[in-house]
Amino acid sequence: MPEDSATTTTNASKPRILTGDTPTGRLHLGHWVGSVENRVRLQDEYDCFFLLANMHAFTTRAEKADDIRRDTIEIVKDWIACGIDPERATIVLQTEVPAIAELTWFFAMLLPFNRVMRNPTLKTEIESKGLGDKYSFGFPMYAVGQCADILAFRPELVPVGEDQVAHIEMCREAARRFDQVYCGVDPQTEDADYAGAGGVFPVPKALVGRVGRLVGTDGTQKMSKSLDNAVFLSDTPKQVKKKINAMYPGQSRAPDQPGDPDINPVFEYMDIFVKDEALIAETKNRYRKGDNIGDGHVKAYVIEAVNELLEPIRARRAEYEKPGGDDLVIDVIRAGTAQANAIAEESLAMAKDAMGLGFGARSLGPLS
Ligand code: TRP
Repeated sequence: MPEDSATTTTNASKPRILTGDTPTGRLHLGHWVGSVENRVRLQDEYDCFFLLANMHAFTTRAEKADDIRRDTIEIVKDWIACGIDPERATIVLQTEVPAIAELTWFFAMLLPFNRVMRNPTLKTEIESKGLGDKYSFGFPMYAVGQCADILAFRPELVPVGEDQVAHIEMCREAARRFDQVYCGVDPQTEDADYAGAGGVFPVPKALVGRVGRLVGTDGTQKMSKSLDNAVFLSDTPKQVKKKINAMYPGQSRAPDQPGDPDINPVFEYMDIFVKDEALIAETKNRYRKGDNIGDGHVKAYVIEAVNELLEPIRARRAEYEKPGGDDLVIDVIRAGTAQANAIAEESLAMAKDAMGLGFGARSLGPLS
């Protein structure tokens, strides 16, 4: 680690976490239950690195540089608002960590082209974003880049939503392959033992949140900004109310007619966001019987619970929405990225040594 690197918030004795988000818009409830909630919870137990994958945003929006910059800053506000504490966790800007780009090249040569193109997350994205055969060369490359994002930090755990598991699987293959090819690790080695067996890279594990895939307010597709079915973490109480109230409850019934909670996405939200288990059970019971319970009634419970969750998030966010808020965020990004470079450079140097590329040390200073 270079001597001038700040080490106040990284703790070398704890196992590491690396995860991140692509700045393509503000975060929503799907991000919260899929991953962000876990990140907040694990901040003390792990040495956490949270990556702003801004390079990846360019793979589908190369001509939207201004939007990407704005979204990058907004995501940091969302993270901090959610309780990610830059004093304890390290916030990292991908485009200022050159080791990630370099490692991407090395991993690109260890993963067969057809293996990358078969990655189901990429395939789904090509479909859902309507990319057809018009996507950039860099688009499938981002999945290889994601292996480098992760392995640059040699983490144990990667908290992600379910849609990312295929990427983590590819990252695990890249790690095994590197360690086998360049570090002589026996292919029979258990995943957990790769580092102990002399590998540079551990084989990290995905950690999926309590809800891997949150349904959107349309009641059918995954919650996503581009599908216009998202409740954002920065939505006002009024916006939350409007979005939930507009949900189709999966059936048409009057308050005194029996209904099926299992086909009603509002109940899915109730299960996830309402904490009072007895209230959930009783409401479902009454719904099944048609015991004078309207759909507006069920929605009201969900609206209240979601607003209760979002209230402290909104309050913390407000601090950063004042004039000067963006500058505070940029300071956080700079400080975190400097620390991140210390670790990523170390990983890159280890990888280069293993590859016979160790021709001397280099060091990168903090952004100034
Ligand atoms: N692809 C992830 C997403 O769109 C974001 C991401 C980039 C990421 N690099 C990562 C997630 C590394 C986990 C680890 O959500």
